[in-house]
Amino acid sequence: MRSIDEDKLGLFVKQTGGMVAASFNCAITVLGDRLGLYRALSELGPCSSEALAAHLTLHERWVREWLYQQACIGQVEYVEGANQFAISPEAYAVLADADHPAYLMGGFDSALAVFPAVTKLEEAFRTGIGMSYDDHGPNCACGIERMGAFTKKNRLVAEMVPLIPGMHDRLSAGADVADVGCGGGLAVIALAEAYPRSSFVGYDTSDEALARARANLQETGLTNVRLCNPFQEPLPENPVFDLITTFDVIHDTPYPQDLIDQIYGALKDDGRWLCEDIKGFDSFEDNLKHHPIAALLYGFSVTVCMNSGLSTADGAGLGTLGFTEPMAREMTAQAGFREFELLAIENPMNNYYLLGK
Ligand SMILES: C[S@@+](CC[C@H](N)C(=O)[O-])C[C@H]1O[C@@H](n2cnc3c(N)ncnc32)[C@H](O)[C@@H]1O
Repeated sequence: MRSIDEDKLGLFVKQTGGMVAASFNCAITVLGDRLGLYRALSELGPCSSEALAAHLTLHERWVREWLYQQACIGQVEYVEGANQFAISPEAYAVLADADHPAYLMGGFDSALAVFPAVTKLEEAFRTGIGMSYDDHGPNCACGIERMGAFTKKNRLVAEMVPLIPGMHDRLSAGADVADVGCGGGLAVIALAEAYPRSSFVGYDTSDEALARARANLQETGLTNVRLCNPFQEPLPENPVFDLITTFDVIHDTPYPQDLIDQIYGALKDDGRWLCEDIKGFDSFEDNLKHHPIAALLYGFSVTVCMNSGLSTADGAGLGTLGFTEPMAREMTAQAGFREFELLAIENPMNNYYLLGK
């Protein structure tokens, strides 16, 4: 056993204490979101705990302690001398503005949703078998939907479809499209609104995700979208789709090669597969040294993605950072895809691959 360096110990305690504080902050931030505290702070401008509580009809003592914690963790500003609190525009963008690309509230939702999974995860380390998406309950699907909402609502139709040669015209004329692992259905909804002559199917193996997708779809009144669970209705074995999309699905499905094979089989000869998956380096060492959010992504992996990928006894368990570009090239080539292009789409978290037969 090496001897303890007291200075390093002090630093480590400080760093770890910050992480314990961040763990509590997860629950407290979700409360701020659910109770509308961040939005109200923005509407009111600098205000006292009394004013904020009165605005939302909440108990002042609870709101005051929430504000103290939020100021200490740095998500809310304390206006010295005035005993008031405020939210900066940057904090508002990250914590409350669902239409901002920096919005991160879904991350807190997802993180909080996995806390109750700890007992099952402890068992998973012993048995090797993880949890399906549905084993987490509804909040996990909700968090993931919120995390990826900006891309689907603002970038898919405007930026991504134009990068797929001829696809805008095909979709405008009427094409058949599938989004596999559709989660809350936001991708099919965005595409179906933009291309009313086309028909869309959202597939997901999670009933929680499908329930969210159905609710989201109902709000739109769209009639050109169908949702289904591939356990009941698998992807067709004949090539019927002009476009298939997957958004962060391949790395966390238990049988990624099977799914890629199925996508190949269901795609028309001149069809295209747009595959979004996590951007990472080829080795753990490079992720450790160079990936800006490796800790967050490995955190997601143990609790959600690898957990899902190992939810069956023979699952692949690729993990959040496990479907690297070389791996994607290899596995898709094995399925028969001959065209593979890394699209020039700026995104700190994901790569976009365009595949054809
Ligand atoms: C990380 S979530 C992404 C959801 C959605 N695409 C998004 O971006 O918000 C992955 C989703 O893929 C689904 N999934 C995993 N394997 C699948 C499979 N073989 N077929 C269909 N859905 C699958 C999961 O249930 C989960 O909802």
